[in-house]
Amino acid sequence: MGEPCVPRLLHRIGVQTRSAERNRPAFTAALPAATAPAAAPPPRSQLRRPGPGPRRPRSAEGAAPGDAHRPARRPGAAPAPVGAGTERAGPHMPSSAGSRRCPLRPPPLPAPRRPADMNYSRFITTVSAARKASPIRLLTELMQKSPPSLISLAGGAPNPNVFPFKRATVAIGHGTAVEIGEDLMKRALQYSASAGIPELLSWLKDFQRNLHNPPTANYSPEQGQMEVCVTTGSQEGLCKVFEMLINPGDNILLDAPTYSGTLAALRPLGCNIINVPSDQHGIIPKALKEILSTWSSEDVKNHSHHLPKFLYTIPNGCNPTGNSLTTERKKEIYQLARKYDFLIIEDDPYYFLQFEKPWAPTFLSMDVDGRVIRTDSFSKILSSGLRIGFLTGPKPLIDRVILHIQVSTMHTSTFTQIMISQLLQQWGEKGFLEHIDRVVEFYRTQRDAMLIAADKWLKDLAEWYPPAAGMFLWIKIKGVSDTQQLIMEKALQKEVLLVPGGAFNIDSSEPSSYVRASFSLSSPGQMDLAFKRLADLIKEAL
Ligand SMILES: Cc1ncc(COP(=O)(O)O)c(C=O)c1O
Repeated sequence: MGEPCVPRLLHRIGVQTRSAERNRPAFTAALPAATAPAAAPPPRSQLRRPGPGPRRPRSAEGAAPGDAHRPARRPGAAPAPVGAGTERAGPHMPSSAGSRRCPLRPPPLPAPRRPADMNYSRFITTVSAARKASPIRLLTELMQKSPPSLISLAGGAPNPNVFPFKRATVAIGHGTAVEIGEDLMKRALQYSASAGIPELLSWLKDFQRNLHNPPTANYSPEQGQMEVCVTTGSQEGLCKVFEMLINPGDNILLDAPTYSGTLAALRPLGCNIINVPSDQHGIIPKALKEILSTWSSEDVKNHSHHLPKFLYTIPNGCNPTGNSLTTERKKEIYQLARKYDFLIIEDDPYYFLQFEKPWAPTFLSMDVDGRVIRTDSFSKILSSGLRIGFLTGPKPLIDRVILHIQVSTMHTSTFTQIMISQLLQQWGEKGFLEHIDRVVEFYRTQRDAMLIAADKWLKDLAEWYPPAAGMFLWIKIKGVSDTQQLIMEKALQKEVLLVPGGAFNIDSSEPSSYVRASFSLSSPGQMDLAFKRLADLIKEAL
């Protein structure tokens, strides 16, 4: 791929280019890089330690009924959802579309003269701070950058000539193929760098720059320069980011119901999960502000360890709710992150499944401070089984994750990376985005089919919003206070299966009147039959 061409790429996703203001920050010195010998852990005063207790304790399993994590029931939170007695836009007019079609614009609040001085040491755990680069991994990476004339007796890598796999041809449609010849296959079967193979990494970095135009792209490393690393699915990235940031007792923010994989990764870490109310447009900034007002400006000035460390959110086509955050809300939330000095974890596997253009500007695109960690996934668009995703964020933090990868998975499968990299080099950004257009078209048609089936069978029995992205319809069953029994005990007999909403609550034993229906795999005929069966089931239960 040649020089990044930001305007061209942004135009492709339907966004008008702006002349991005580039303020040069003066960040505090950060953490040692993964590829450099690690320095001693930060002074104890800078490290996070479990505090005496949160100001607003809402432990993972201990939230009280009626607590903040019942967003849909908060007065004034959401306009009436679709369903009986309510009007809704047709399937081609997602209700949230109007507010999501804004082109990139500077934040509504006065633009900051200069970014915040980020002290990354403040956010990381003692364990993460103590990670050092593995000397063997460093040698491997050095060797891979050396000319072929180098005679290395250093590596502990096996000889690939003894491996049975010699070459591969993977058909990719339209009569084309990804070819992995003998030499490339030897690389594909070999150990590789923990951050990712160089050609894929550089493709991804260019892509992120072109797509999101992050302010941090040209910062110095210590200032929070945008860094990318390949992960074994976005789940690996998320899990390692959580482990890098969370000490027991830490306060963190998220908008539940949320992805059960995130909750499962968070719960054992012993953090206090504070639920931020949301509606079909995502987190409600006013509600977030109210929660944050618990902490004073003194707390912020003194870097109180009670301050929430990060906000986690799924900004597009949220799993399970299908909610998507509007641009205006993102801007407001980013300003609150600046005011209360917390990080934002933008888990965005459904970014490429947005049904309307322009695609929503990301938190990464607004990140003047270097406080956004973004997880991307190839799972919904190239393959979920190949297990590949990528992390983007400030270098001092991404480097910590890479140190963790060095001693756990070592790296994402080199074979997988070579296959993906060959495909992306062949397609280029244009070809990749054309593929995305085809994927989106498929999911839009699927969503529409599900909405038609829902209208036909569930109109008087349930409520829902048409999702603007993703693969899920979040359905509230009227008159059923908990769908757990309905689904787990009775639905199978009727030969229909959905996920009971409780699975996505912070406290999974808390009742939920919702179910999650996925429109990814079923045909329109199957959706129709499934909702007919669900309707029968509900009628019997009432
Ligand atoms: C919100 C969310 N985050 C992360 C993941 C994990 O995806 P991956 O396959 O990239 O690990 C999923 C998977 O469904 C998801 O829905």
